Amino acid sequence: MKNTSPIIMGSDHAGYALKEFIKDYLTALNIQIEDCGPFNEDSVDYSDFGIQVARKISSGDFKHGILVCGTGLGMSMVANRFKNVRAALCNDLFSATMSRRHNDANILVLGGRVIGTELAKEIVRVWLETPFEGGRHQRRIQKFDTIKDGSI
Ligand code: RB5
Repeated sequence: MKNTSPIIMGSDHAGYALKEFIKDYLTALNIQIEDCGPFNEDSVDYSDFGIQVARKISSGDFKHGILVCGTGLGMSMVANRFKNVRAALCNDLFSATMSRRHNDANILVLGGRVIGTELAKEIVRVWLETPFEGGRHQRRIQKFDTIKDGSI
């Protein structure tokens, strides 16, 4: 794995099992993980964990994050409220690749109730290894990165 910078992770109860699986996978590859929780499958609100992860990406403390909830939808909605956060819900390999190449996604969001562990592992690997292409894609990102409260 080329990308070895520390990764911040979080989930809710519906994403807990997949978060743990991915954490074990990345840890075995010597990638440092900061786990914001939860630490068991008790019911929690995805918002609380999405906020923690997105905050640390927004501040620049971490370069890459991974969030998992049941569908991945709630976590995407939460994370994308934060400045500098480009969270991409990728439950397939093509989206995972393109979210890095064209969108410079800095949070990968997965649906723990949507995909299986082996596909998730591949998605994570591809996502972490694929570089941003820059150029015209950088210009496009800059156009929405400056939006605040709906106004440019
Ligand atoms: C939890 O039941 C579920 O709503 C949550 O994991 C997520 O899918 C929300 O978008």
